[in-house]
Amino acid sequence: MEKEKINRESFSGTLAVFFATLGSAVGLGNIWKFPYVVGKNGGAAFILVYLICVAFVGIPVMVSEFYIGRKTHKNVMGALKELTPNPLWKTIGVFGILTAYFIMFYYSCVAGWVYSYIFKALKGDFTNVTADSASTLFGKTVVGPWPPLVWQFIAMAVVSLILIKGVEKGIERVTKTLIPVLFVLIIVCGIRALTLPGASEGLKFLFKVDFSQITPGAILAAMGLAFFKLSLGMGTMVTYGSYFTKDTNLISTSAKVAVADTIVSLLAGIAIFPTVFSFGMKPEAGPGLLFMTIPLVFSKLPFGNILLVAFFFLTAIAATTAMISIVEVLIAYFTEEKGFKRSSAVIINAIIILLMGSLATLSADKASVLGNLSVFFGKGFFDTFDFISSNILMPIGGLLIALFVGYIVKKQSLINELSNNENLKNIGLITTFKYVLMGITPILLIIVFLSSLNIIKF
Ligand code: PHE
Repeated sequence: MEKEKINRESFSGTLAVFFATLGSAVGLGNIWKFPYVVGKNGGAAFILVYLICVAFVGIPVMVSEFYIGRKTHKNVMGALKELTPNPLWKTIGVFGILTAYFIMFYYSCVAGWVYSYIFKALKGDFTNVTADSASTLFGKTVVGPWPPLVWQFIAMAVVSLILIKGVEKGIERVTKTLIPVLFVLIIVCGIRALTLPGASEGLKFLFKVDFSQITPGAILAAMGLAFFKLSLGMGTMVTYGSYFTKDTNLISTSAKVAVADTIVSLLAGIAIFPTVFSFGMKPEAGPGLLFMTIPLVFSKLPFGNILLVAFFFLTAIAATTAMISIVEVLIAYFTEEKGFKRSSAVIINAIIILLMGSLATLSADKASVLGNLSVFFGKGFFDTFDFISSNILMPIGGLLIALFVGYIVKKQSLINELSNNENLKNIGLITTFKYVLMGITPILLIIVFLSSLNIIKF
């Protein structure tokens, strides 16, 4: 066992750890999903609920996952096997694997759209774009059927190639340099959006809280979004934690990642909603929101088209690093638990993802080939993969992780790991963390579940 630990790669330093983890958290979730889910659920009040979920559920679950990963230096299945003989907890691993597949089925489809937008922008498809032409173009992009399937394939091919090259070289290099650039570009976008006529309506939508918008379904969506955004509840952060070095500060890394990730999401909101209102579009437009607004943000700007290409290019990178972290959960499991060669594990999983993922791609829009097929409570494949992963599997996985680390793990082991063998003087913080994890986190999760099933009402 010792040998296995030594052979495993790890990230090279504190900053690399931060950026690699951020590379998993920041992705389509911030730039594509956060704005459209906020738009569908009425804006500011939803964001407030989301922030509460991040603080009291997201950060504690992230610390717990880091604990499990770095303590064992294993993938999620192997880690739980090492930590407890009780097979019940292996459910966390099984759910993690399932969730990774479900997310990838539709995430690879949206990543394909983003990749295709780089080329559309390069070709000049967005010169003189209007609100109408932007939505027509988006419709054409997703309905396909062949082009979106081909783009999905290209996105998966890129992910697979990086994964075959390995953790250190692949993930680290890309994230360290490009995340800061993406950050700057979103700020540029936001500043531009704020100068559009009528921008203040968008800001009001984002920041003026109106609780009448909050329904149990919206609260579940906020919780699901927090898990999805921070890559939690499915073992990604266990796997990343397993690559951390012994001087990584697990609590502060979690807090920093959560804060930075939230800032990126809010900035994306500031770029998108003023544009939505300025051009008389609908905030509840759904998954096309990003693709219909961003070309408008950059139109009529000097060098607008170059900025547009850069924006979609960097979004594609963010989507790719996030996908790498999702598929890495599968690869670590296949190689470490099932003895596959890394390259075979990557190829087999890419094939599974593409086969099932094509169902998402072919059902992404009402006008798509499978657009009217309902598979789960009136939802098509695309929405079903999303709903089951974010709103069911991840929160249940998170609840189990919180209960496991809160109640089963020995306090001394937690203290040793979270204080780096008492090198950090943070006992007070660790104790607070443990109480939150034992009380607030599970209670909030259970309330959200029961209310969304209508078992309790506010
Ligand atoms: N957090 C990523 C995003 O926002 C998605 C993701 C989910 C990544 C789960 C890893 C695990 O795009």
